[in-house]
Amino acid sequence: MSYETILVETKDKVGVITLNRPKALNALNDQLMDELGHALQQFDQDDAIGCIVLTGSEKAFAAGADIALMANYTYMDAFKGNYVTKNWEHIRQIRKPVIAAVSGYALGGGCELAMMCDFIIASETAKFGQPEIKLGTIPGCGGTQRLPRAISKSKAMDLCLTARMMDAQEAERSGLVSRVVAPEKLMEETLAAAATIACMSLPVVMMIKDTVNRAYETTLSEGVQYERRMFYSTFASDDQKEGMKAFLEKRPPQFKNS
Ligand code: HXC
Repeated sequence: MSYETILVETKDKVGVITLNRPKALNALNDQLMDELGHALQQFDQDDAIGCIVLTGSEKAFAAGADIALMANYTYMDAFKGNYVTKNWEHIRQIRKPVIAAVSGYALGGGCELAMMCDFIIASETAKFGQPEIKLGTIPGCGGTQRLPRAISKSKAMDLCLTARMMDAQEAERSGLVSRVVAPEKLMEETLAAAATIACMSLPVVMMIKDTVNRAYETTLSEGVQYERRMFYSTFASDDQKEGMKAFLEKRPPQFKNS
């Protein structure tokens, strides 16, 4: 498949996807979401890739779902066309870590897309918000659900009800992003984090992603029980033997992803 709205490249063991509709500040239309889903699945299935980075432009990660696309939608267009569900949820099926590198605007669906990634590294220029209320609608891809889990009910209500934007510093203070870096360091730092992850045991990386995500879907007791089962299962892997042996032998581990 050749892509028109995203750029795809690999950097060693890291797959990099860049949203690329610059004239519309990477507004997310069906073509882009189809292409993004396809590229994510390709990287997920590629044994040579250990981590994926999703980024946008300097000015915008993504300024939201494409308003021109939605403007004349009827209820039936959205309902029968399965809007959002049909191509925004692919990212949730990806088993390898996906890091969002956010510079500039991450608004509406752009903020929701960043939140569907496993963690967010932000440039000092990043601005996050859910301004749908100004358009007479509400967040439609998890913003009302993921934002309170990420930054508290109070801040989520503030952002969704006033449509104000949150800068990178506030986003880091609130726990939405894991790190804030200088704009010129955004890709360097994100790719370094991705490369670090890509050198770990891939099945263990995937287990950690799965187990942390379980925390959002279940009770503490169930989640801890799930973690314990996954922890036990690592003792069936060659990579656990290698990791602990390498520590005791004071050398770097050579993981074989088995
Ligand atoms: C379609 C968009 C767009 C969007 C920007 N553009 N955001 N087109 N959908 N979400 C287009 C503009 O129309 C314009 O096109 C070009 O990108 C540059 O934008 P400007 O507004 O001229 O840039 P600037 O003045 O710098 O303002 C940047 C901005 C503003 C603050 C980000 O563009 C903005 O407010 N955008 C909308 C943000 C938003 O409301 N997002 C939520 C969407 S709803 P032309 O052709 O005029 O140059 C949503 C719901 C998700 O996401 C539900 C789940 C799917």
